[in-house]
Amino acid sequence: MSGKLQASVTVVINSIAQAKKAQGIRVFNLSVGEPKLMTPEIVRQAAIKFVEKGDIPYPSPAGEPKLRKLATDWMNAKYATSYTADECIIVTGGKFGIYLLLEYLCGQNSPLKTNPTDTVGVLIPAPYWVSYPAITKIMNGKPIIINTTEAGEWKLTPEILKASYTPDCKIMMLNNAANPTGVLYSRAELKALMDTAHELGLTVISDEVYSGLVYTDDEYVSCGSFTEYKDNIIVVQSTSKTFAMTGWRLGYVLANKDIITTLSALSTQSTTGVSLICQHGAIAAFENADEIVAEINSAMKHRRDIFLNAFKEYFGLELPVPKAALYVWTSLESLGIHGINDEEFCIKLLEEANVAAVPGSGFGQAGYVRLSFGAGEDDLVGGVKALADFVKQLNK
Ligand SMILES: Cc1ncc(COP(=O)(O)O)c(C=O)c1O
Repeated sequence: MSGKLQASVTVVINSIAQAKKAQGIRVFNLSVGEPKLMTPEIVRQAAIKFVEKGDIPYPSPAGEPKLRKLATDWMNAKYATSYTADECIIVTGGKFGIYLLLEYLCGQNSPLKTNPTDTVGVLIPAPYWVSYPAITKIMNGKPIIINTTEAGEWKLTPEILKASYTPDCKIMMLNNAANPTGVLYSRAELKALMDTAHELGLTVISDEVYSGLVYTDDEYVSCGSFTEYKDNIIVVQSTSKTFAMTGWRLGYVLANKDIITTLSALSTQSTTGVSLICQHGAIAAFENADEIVAEINSAMKHRRDIFLNAFKEYFGLELPVPKAALYVWTSLESLGIHGINDEEFCIKLLEEANVAAVPGSGFGQAGYVRLSFGAGEDDLVGGVKALADFVKQLNK
């Protein structure tokens, strides 16, 4: 198994889980990348109301003007950014926003290339979200992985960034708050990183899809708030996690007008824009954002605490408290697991104990595991208990 692409492990894990479910076996799902909650009623009703009107034409490529305005107003009010509606495009999920951006910025007509034959280097701090290197490769860019460490709280620093920089690097991906580590950067840390990125002439793609899932009183800082670098910072956002709307596939990208115009053109030749049904749901989400975000945030914080308590109870372990996102990111060693690699461990854990987890190798960090607290309480408590029993067996 080791040496294969992470996607293959995910596929193996998924197919084992599906086969088990088909046989009626209860699988504890600690692998989800989403808050397992109902989409808020008010959002569902808005979409239904729109459907019932019956007139559902093609959308405009950059999205409904009302939604673009609401999304930018929300960002500006909540995170002190300064976007106008025409600096925003509605896309089919944050992932597709990143896909379009890398298609443009790594592609033939990239404004970042000196010669059309240049390969655009994309700096990606590890542990990373699996899709960054994968999409970069699809777009013929070159992923350049920057390793961060547990001792350094998995944070990228200007020093690490400078040490990894080579002249072909044109783009830096930054994920704040981060999947899988839960890292949350302070304003001072981000400012130092943005200054360094500017010095190095990098375009920053700041993936902020977990901004609504921050559980401390720390300020959430959007890279879009560093308005002095506005032309070189692109923000990717989403309704997926913030509003519990993963399946609606609705994200947005905030950038200068030129980039937005190009992404709109690319979208006309790919998705033709986002379904108006989903856009009308999202309009209701933004119109009721304060209430919805608070509710989802508090539900996920509660699940995080239940999860950590289960580790205390069944493992006798006080794990570091994730400040943000949906994940406990920990080494096999911290769980008392030795003599097996993370991919083999996750497959065995699922086959023998019916617990689905994601191996760290997929995120560029062998020896670790990502355990999600996005699922319901039964999965969380049952999953940790089954995990603890399995580890005891393994160590016998
Ligand atoms: C770090 C990160 N970025 C982006 C996404 C994509 O989100 P979506 O396409 O649902 O908006 C995810 C989804 O899991 C993610 O974890």
